[in-house]
Amino acid sequence: MVSERSAVQPGAEVLVASNRGPVSYALGEGGELSAKRGGGGLVSGLSTIGADAVWVCSALGDGDREAARRTGGLLDVADTGGQRVRMLDIPADVHAAAYNGVANSVLWFVHHMLYQTPLEPVFDADFRGQWAAYEAYNAAFASALADSASPGAAVLVQDYHLALVPAMLRQVRPDVRIAHFSHTPWAPPEYFAMLPDDVQRQLVLGILGADRANFLTGRWARAFTACCERALGPDCTAHWPRHEAPSVVAVPPDRKAHRTRIGVHGLGADAEFLRERSRRPDVEERMAALRGQIGGTDRKTIVRVDRTELSKNIVRGLLAFRRLLADRPEWRERVVHLAFAYPSRQDLAVYRDYTAQVGALAEEINAEYGTAGWQPVVLHVKDDFARSLAAYRLADVALVNPIRDGMNLVAKEVPVVSDAGCALVLSREAGAWEELGADALTVNPYDVGQTAEALHAALSMPAEERAARTARLAAAATALPPARWFLDQLQALGE
Ligand code: G6P
Repeated sequence: MVSERSAVQPGAEVLVASNRGPVSYALGEGGELSAKRGGGGLVSGLSTIGADAVWVCSALGDGDREAARRTGGLLDVADTGGQRVRMLDIPADVHAAAYNGVANSVLWFVHHMLYQTPLEPVFDADFRGQWAAYEAYNAAFASALADSASPGAAVLVQDYHLALVPAMLRQVRPDVRIAHFSHTPWAPPEYFAMLPDDVQRQLVLGILGADRANFLTGRWARAFTACCERALGPDCTAHWPRHEAPSVVAVPPDRKAHRTRIGVHGLGADAEFLRERSRRPDVEERMAALRGQIGGTDRKTIVRVDRTELSKNIVRGLLAFRRLLADRPEWRERVVHLAFAYPSRQDLAVYRDYTAQVGALAEEINAEYGTAGWQPVVLHVKDDFARSLAAYRLADVALVNPIRDGMNLVAKEVPVVSDAGCALVLSREAGAWEELGADALTVNPYDVGQTAEALHAALSMPAEERAARTARLAAAATALPPARWFLDQLQALGE
């Protein structure tokens, strides 16, 4: 994976590695490439570092692969907003097996506890083939990072796609400082133990190859540490000092003991960006359109905005809304549930089925309760950021009820953007609950009856209380904005 180009590029002082990069390419009919830039915490974090940083990511589709080939891997800065991005041309079949087969179907399911365990998971020969691809894909990243890093560089590896990279990179570049960040929850030890024993060891030793293993909350950090102890047994010692961050000393196969510090960095919402973006004319237009769909002048709204992701618990959210209409008939005609469920991971059959189920249930509720002038559920499936912000501004109640979630930024964004204050119904299994629980209405995501009652309480909350809670939620939600979150990790790595 050593490209000719990189030989003439100076090495980078700071490197970020993630499966999905900050830009993606579409291939036109005539072979022309058009670039589309994404946003997010890492993008704003890296922009504060500037030209010394390199972002290493994978080509995800045909357009990306073509761009990687045409440029030799180092993308044109005109496409990336000035950011140096190295896109790896990993063979499509290897990427599919690593990304869909292992990362999204196994690791995502384990960390979010999504299996229906009487029938799955099954670890057989197919899985072993996919695992070999996952190793190859991680090795490609490790080699590109080794090749692009200047001596002593800081390397920030992102997420469950790249769990093996830290140990692989340390082998060849012991001089660099490595951090790994998990943006997901981490599985409890009993659940993690479903994975084959050797895979468990490889995953925790992979991350323990880093100097720092970082998480969004203390809960996920403790779960990871407990999984290390269970998977590695005598080859690992966890330290839990009273006033310092915990650390894990592991003895990898080369028998050279290595200490990894465990860090917690709770990514917050970007208040400045959200407040400015949500006041632009396109958002105002969307608000007018949504008001038309809601109908009635004093109707209340319950808003949810998610990817159509199994862990987001959209089906039980709809069941809770149906239960509210059944148990509390006074809300009929007086409330509309705006449910935005944007397609995600449609390469996987289970996601396609879930998406269909969400649509069918919304229709059922509308058929059961709808009247000539009132559509109880307004479901939107086309991703539209301006419309999401419009819904945030209008919401009387936000429903955030994931089965399990690393953080959940929607819960943090709504209070920042809300016009008149918004009551937050929040799952105790979302990472954000650690910071927002005090001013939210807490629910057990599996308990549809309790969620229906929480929706009723939220809709009934007096306006002053709602506004006061929203102000406190917004303050907690913006405590660690993305740029600071990124710089904190970099600084901690230097200590
Ligand atoms: C969510 C998770 C991230 C993950 C991403 C992958 O945003 O919080 O941890 O990296 O999904 O999504 P993708 O669309 O790239 O599969």
